[in-house]
Amino acid sequence: MRGKNIIIGISGGIAAYKTPQLVRLLKKRGANVKVILTEGGARFVSELALATVSGETVYRSLFPSTDQGNTDFINHISLGEWADAFVIAPATAHTLAKLSAGLCDDMLTTCFITLRPGKPVLLFPSMDGYMFISPSVQRNISTLAAQGCTIITPDKGELASGQSGVGRMPEPESILATLEKSLKRGSEASPLFGKSVVITAGPTREKIDGVRFISNYSSGKMGFAVARSAARRGANVTLIAGPVHLDTPQGVERCNVESASEMYAEAQRFFKSCDIFIGAAAVSDYRPAEPREGKMKKEMEQIELSLVKNIDILAEFGCQKTPEQLAIGFALETQFGLENARIKLTDKNLDLIAFNYFDRQTSGFEVDTNILTLIQRNGITKELPQLTKDAAAEELIETIERLLPGNRH
Ligand code: CTP
Repeated sequence: MRGKNIIIGISGGIAAYKTPQLVRLLKKRGANVKVILTEGGARFVSELALATVSGETVYRSLFPSTDQGNTDFINHISLGEWADAFVIAPATAHTLAKLSAGLCDDMLTTCFITLRPGKPVLLFPSMDGYMFISPSVQRNISTLAAQGCTIITPDKGELASGQSGVGRMPEPESILATLEKSLKRGSEASPLFGKSVVITAGPTREKIDGVRFISNYSSGKMGFAVARSAARRGANVTLIAGPVHLDTPQGVERCNVESASEMYAEAQRFFKSCDIFIGAAAVSDYRPAEPREGKMKKEMEQIELSLVKNIDILAEFGCQKTPEQLAIGFALETQFGLENARIKLTDKNLDLIAFNYFDRQTSGFEVDTNILTLIQRNGITKELPQLTKDAAAEELIETIERLLPGNRH
């Protein structure tokens, strides 16, 4: 942390009262801290307190007051250039909406736009529990996560409304620890730095005829979250994606495919040279044996579709991999979950499998959260609670880092 330039952005939530303590902790660690305070933020925490603990003028307005001859109106640009990391705590629903839309109507949002690519941006949403799970807040969070921001799920507990739920900003010590980790992640100190990671994601489509296909409900969100997390740690990530409606995560190389055979062909190109292969795609297990040309007419009362098995991409890699390479899979199970996941771990010769609980509301296809249990080859099992897919991906990637040759323990 010593010598690092950190911007702390504070928007208007009650948790803003904790921020002088955060600034103090950062200063004690030797960081240089500059604070940007929004109008709302200033209702909850004093500018003077923040200026005192940071030892710096607090940035409030995009435009300087010219009455004292001050004409410096490009602070937002110099701040963006200066920052090694950008933290917004608390990040209100309003601020998240402005950031995701790219609005620049105050110092905080304008500075956000000027940040240099690759620098960690940590957003700590803090609000009422129902606001946090509202579709608009979740949509904005997804957009910002796709842009490479790290969104830290708020803590659960007592809220300002007197109710209890998810929405509390983590304590300053915890924010500091998260920031320290993410500064390390993007640096050469990260075990994943420079490693080559190949990830399959999304569904595949298997043609029945020229206009119809067999597929599944996979949205690709989990695989894309894993790709984001690996890229943030400095890995060279190749994402082989089935047909999904998701933006390519920053810094990730993407190959779009449609069928399982195409996914396999792409994946094969990287088998030999990658360090880690992660099968997060919901690959169709079967494909029509004889897809028709053009559009089939509905002439018959009943038709039979003959299906043939697709190749298991992950199992292929598991079979071919060297002792230095890691093979990671997911197991989506609706019954005998852990047991089936363990069988897949052995059968496909994997180093780790994430058993994916499935109920369609909290976990599984399309939704934004997931419940995973990480099972290592040596039997070590970690049951994760319900997390956003980004947070679950972080946990998965952290576990994978520990499995890398040289880090195994
Ligand atoms: N997988 C793959 N290629 C396939 C099928 C699955 O790479 N043709 C990978 C998936 O990406 C996932 C893992 O294998 O990481 C397990 O997939 P899952 O659908 O849970 O199980 P299957 O192996 O297909 O077995 P089953 O459908 O019988 O549960």
